Amino acid sequence: MTKQTLIQKLGEVNFRHLITQQHLGLEKHFREEYTPTEMLAELKKRIKSTRTDFRKLRNQNINLQPYLEIGAEYGLRSCLLETAFDGRGFALDLARAPLEAMPHFAKQFGFTKFPIRIVADAHELPFSNQTFAFVFCYQTLHHFPDPLPVVKEIWRVLKPGGWFFFSEEPVRQTFNLRLFRRPTKASGWNKLLKYSLLLPFISEIGKSEVDYGIAEEAFSLNLWQKLTREFVDGTITISPFLVGRHLHLTNAQFKSKLELPFTSKFSLTLFGGGISGLLRKNSGVQKTEPKRIFQCPNCHSKLTKINRRLTCLICQNSYMQTNGIWQLLTKDLNRKLYG
Ligand SMILES: C[S@@+](CC[C@H](N)C(=O)[O-])C[C@H]1O[C@@H](n2cnc3c(N)ncnc32)[C@H](O)[C@@H]1O
Ligand SMILES: [Zn+2]
Repeated sequence: MTKQTLIQKLGEVNFRHLITQQHLGLEKHFREEYTPTEMLAELKKRIKSTRTDFRKLRNQNINLQPYLEIGAEYGLRSCLLETAFDGRGFALDLARAPLEAMPHFAKQFGFTKFPIRIVADAHELPFSNQTFAFVFCYQTLHHFPDPLPVVKEIWRVLKPGGWFFFSEEPVRQTFNLRLFRRPTKASGWNKLLKYSLLLPFISEIGKSEVDYGIAEEAFSLNLWQKLTREFVDGTITISPFLVGRHLHLTNAQFKSKLELPFTSKFSLTLFGGGISGLLRKNSGVQKTEPKRIFQCPNCHSKLTKINRRLTCLICQNSYMQTNGIWQLLTKDLNRKLYG
């Protein structure tokens, strides 16, 4: 199981800091990434589709709290869950800057309730086993060279019978020469190539991210099948780009030998697609005492709140909340990422 390297983590922290400044309108760093106005339009779209997702989950009687969002960035999907669906939980990201910008964006969309914000590494979730009824992430698993260790962590912090929801993840497009990476907005030569319809077959997205060292992957269906193995139940949706039926499969169907209709297979090979999943952990005995949910990232012992800090009585490390954000990284990683 390959984990994100330090360079990839540093890339996330540095890039997200700069792009947040750009989205806030403080500093323009990337000509080919969204302006503040474009980002607001993009966030509006994301909130709309998340509302649809959460409504569907609620209609299936899925318990949406306590929840944990991983790779939350500006945390607006968590704000939506808090404000419109009465959820209570945490928005977690390795990068501090986008979490700091959460109040700014939340105000623009009229959110009135907010998640607890946590800076932490998804490889080392600072929560005890069996803490959450619901864990979710959007557009995040493809930023790990191998999402399996992260999914194992998610499985660990889910309560028995809890649900993991992921969405807006890419399925690998086989038919691509991968000559270069393209940025979010096409300009210059890229614009010409885009209108000649060549661009999607000779380049991959994520230029700005990859320039900063961030992992930008698109996994095969085989790898997605591996990820769902531990979960007993649920559904997977595969959405081929351009043509081909959207496939709604039970997790059991997805895990067994996968026979896709020809048009969907053809479209996935040629253009790639998107994948989302709702997966249930097996039921079992609940062991965690609900009050002590934080776990020390250094030694995995339970943390105790003393004088507004979370303290580990075993390794003596303590963790602070500054500007409303808890910083729960191992000592070593905290030093390397945040100095
Ligand atoms: C493309 S953004 C996701 C945006 C947001 N979820 C959305 O859909 O609006 C991916 C996020 O994952 C975060 N991330 C990357 N590696 C991480 C790690 N090891 N632990 C926690 N978060 C991580 C990045 O900092 C970034 O904010
Ligand atoms: Zn400890």
